Amino acid sequence: MTKRFHMSRRTFLKVAAGGAVVVLGGGYLFRDQFLNDGNPSSTATDVIRGQRLPIPDLLTGTEIDGKQVYDLTMQQGSMVYVPGKQTATFAYNGNILGPTLLMHKGDEVVINVTNQLGEPTTTHWHGIHLPAIMDGGPHQIIDDGSTWQAQYTIMNEEATFWYHPHLEGMTAEHVYAGLAGLLIVKDPQSELALPDQYGSDDIPLIVQDKIIDADGSFNYPGTNFGVKGDQFLVNGAVTPVFDAPAQLVRFRLLNGSNARFYNFGFSDDRQFHQIGTDGGLLERPVPMTRLRLSNGERAEILVDFSGQQGSQVRLMSFSSELDGINPVYNSNALDNSTFDLMTIDVVSATANPTTDLPASLATISRIEEDQVSRTRSFELEMGFSGPMTINGVSMDMDRIDQTVKVDDTEIWEVVNSSDMPHPFHVHDIQFLVLTRDGSPPADNEAGWKDTVLVMPRETVRIITRFSDYTDPDHPYMFHCHILEHEDAGMMGQFVVVA
Ligand code: C2O
Ligand code: CU
Ligand code: CU
Repeated sequence: MTKRFHMSRRTFLKVAAGGAVVVLGGGYLFRDQFLNDGNPSSTATDVIRGQRLPIPDLLTGTEIDGKQVYDLTMQQGSMVYVPGKQTATFAYNGNILGPTLLMHKGDEVVINVTNQLGEPTTTHWHGIHLPAIMDGGPHQIIDDGSTWQAQYTIMNEEATFWYHPHLEGMTAEHVYAGLAGLLIVKDPQSELALPDQYGSDDIPLIVQDKIIDADGSFNYPGTNFGVKGDQFLVNGAVTPVFDAPAQLVRFRLLNGSNARFYNFGFSDDRQFHQIGTDGGLLERPVPMTRLRLSNGERAEILVDFSGQQGSQVRLMSFSSELDGINPVYNSNALDNSTFDLMTIDVVSATANPTTDLPASLATISRIEEDQVSRTRSFELEMGFSGPMTINGVSMDMDRIDQTVKVDDTEIWEVVNSSDMPHPFHVHDIQFLVLTRDGSPPADNEAGWKDTVLVMPRETVRIITRFSDYTDPDHPYMFHCHILEHEDAGMMGQFVVVA
């Protein structure tokens, strides 16, 4: 498994103002790359589909000296996706993905992360507010055979977070091999009546795509612009079947794919409600029929199956309805289509179902722009023959790009100067989206977020406050969450200082 970003043999082309295709830099244009972005198709023809949706184990931790202690082991595993073939994987505590960590606001948690992969990596707590040295970014390397202990207090709001490797240059491959899990934060003070029976009416959905070869292996082609597969996995099973109770069901959606975006919806175009964003609940449920999620983003939705026992509906991605995600030089056939992710069979309701959609969910204390002490700009660029950059430079482990003063409120203005969309993610904090090309965000993006999609040539302004933790020596990351872009250098580092 090796890969570095390089542009040789890529199609160096750009759409000129008039829409004509111009070949740049002496590159030459392959008709098939032009149509399908260079990612190969799966060579397996008999991939096993339609298994019951696996529900990751729930780890509640063990209380030791007033702390909740969790144990994770990164290990090599084996799955069967093609009859009679073994698929080599990486996973936490099992064969694919990892257990869901359940944590409560106010808890002090200790997570022992043991590495038995046979190679170094890290484990990052995506979306969690914590000291930089506990973040699990590229500097907190866990060598093969060793255990890293992360320890922090949960200060986040009730929401769905996740954990995954973050080794410099290797994040994409490690996640693709199967390393990722959810981290659910609950607020013991909450009095909201939301579906919360894990695995019954409160369902995690980790959505990923893979290329599966005839020998059963996950094919990681290392495609420069991002690896996109044509097999869709939910919680590690290819287009599985979920038995939904005939009642209000909460889905916790994570786009855990390396590079593909999803435009979620149902085969009958039914309405559902988004109740949560990356880092918290929305003020009120937002009705919708489509939900766009880019890499690393999460959303909690409520879907009402009441009275529908015996019926079937499919969770799908209406990717072809997404505007602007397919620049001509990187067109992926499936991004121009509509495809199934999961079949839902509606079965009998549970004993005490949650029946009502709450009218209001949370109070979001908006940060006022007049509290801002500083505005910073981040320009995302991808050269046609060079590296991926932010503000003109690629990630350098030895360079701190930004220094923030603790307790400052800042606006970060993210400018996408490229022709590809980039999901911009910031460690440590949750932010609010102020504007998208000058307009306020859609209702379903008007909550706490740690990852925001910035479309080609778009500017997104976010506002946040950096609080509690300072450390001049250990940085947090900001980066594009298309994992191949991150590994190719579209990442930078910031420290929070006193
Ligand atoms: Cu999902 Cu830098 O992380
Ligand atoms: Cu993160
Ligand atoms: Cu990107």
